[in-house]
Amino acid sequence: MPSVPRVTKLLLSLHVLAAIIAIGPVTVAASMFPAVARRSDRSRLTLLHRICRVYSLVGVAVPVFGLATASSLGVLGDAWLITSIGLTGAAALILALVILPGQERVLAGEAVTRLGMVTGIFNLLWATVTVLMIVRPGSTTGA
Ligand code: HEM
Repeated sequence: MPSVPRVTKLLLSLHVLAAIIAIGPVTVAASMFPAVARRSDRSRLTLLHRICRVYSLVGVAVPVFGLATASSLGVLGDAWLITSIGLTGAAALILALVILPGQERVLAGEAVTRLGMVTGIFNLLWATVTVLMIVRPGSTTGA
């Protein structure tokens, strides 16, 4: 990134830091949840659910700093970014509307199907966004 303003570098650093700190734990805890649920280990299950819930909220910082970075770079209209925003939105909706409520239903004693599959799709969405962020297909501003 040659001749990029310092504030942009700061915003990008905070964006990537937020992605590592928040998305990492949610990915691991949500992936472990279905297997631990099968062993009906309640205290571990509660802990995994709490990690998912708390770090989902921390994860709000990822799009916030992402959008700030994008506007400071002037790339808000780029196709790779619009695609990333869409995929990030889809992942957030799956987390908030399917995974977290599904985990709550498991904790309440209900048998929940396909939680593992949905969690896998969720993880693939993050992986795709991360690749888009790094490869930035079609971008002429670097890479
Ligand atoms: C609304 C959603 C998002 C927006 C608006 C956004 C925006 C951006 C922008 C503008 C950059 C700088 C690219 C450049 O240097 O030209 C960036 C980099 C990056 N983003 Fe995002 N982002 C979003 C979501 C995510 C998510 C969900 C992840 C990971 C799970 C992520 C991971 C990264 C990484 C690792 C980089 C560094 C890539 C590099 O500089 O090589 N971003 N993002």
